[in-house]
Amino acid sequence: MLIDSHCHLNDERLLPEADNIISDFVADGLESAICVGYDMPSSEKAAELADKYEKLYAVVGIHPHDATTADYDKYERIATLSSSPKVVGIGEIGLDYHYDLSPRAIQKGAFREQIELADTLGLPVVLHIREAYEDARQILFEARRYLNNGVLLHCYSGSKEFVKVFSELDAYFAFGGAITFNNAKHNLEAMKAVPLDRLLLETDCPYMTPVPYRGKTNYPRLVNLVADKACEVLELPREEIERITTENTKRLFIRMK
Ligand code: NI
Repeated sequence: MLIDSHCHLNDERLLPEADNIISDFVADGLESAICVGYDMPSSEKAAELADKYEKLYAVVGIHPHDATTADYDKYERIATLSSSPKVVGIGEIGLDYHYDLSPRAIQKGAFREQIELADTLGLPVVLHIREAYEDARQILFEARRYLNNGVLLHCYSGSKEFVKVFSELDAYFAFGGAITFNNAKHNLEAMKAVPLDRLLLETDCPYMTPVPYRGKTNYPRLVNLVADKACEVLELPREEIERITTENTKRLFIRMK
């Protein structure tokens, strides 16, 4: 069975359907999913959903878009949420120079602070990096001593060369609907460069809907289409992709059962 390593059931588009989505997990071939926060309200909601549903886990943190809202009171609240065994990581944190919704210096500060916070809490970090791979590289290597609990590059969109660079930090890489798009050549090359024991699958739902449903709402069950594409590109049987990516997810997120 598959794990959707990054979904947003805490998003208002999916939240009203969360009950149904999660009760269909087994029928949809899903073992579990990780619901990821991006600001305080969505992190609170992710933790609350994870407490409620056995097959759902949570990651809590402040996204680069919301970096201007990050402060020590929020970090304390993140630490409190993380005392739940169902909170398995800190994220999504990182840098987004595509939208630049927070000034870059403030994004970098919140990124560094939350890397240190994750280390204090003994949890892996889930990274959102968009058009900022060089600056992310610099920050991650400087903060290397705080990265003892694992690093996941969610929705990886960097080059195959950067796969090698981040692999020096023993990073994991998650791929989603983008690998099914027509212009995915660059993403597919990167995916082929990822060591098999570092590959994860995700949906990022309700965003990043895979082909042929592009333009519609994305759901955790569509991770099946991402898995199909991974089988095709990596020339591996479906059972292998399922086994490998599920094992990798649980190795990284040690609090998952
Ligand atoms: Ni996301």
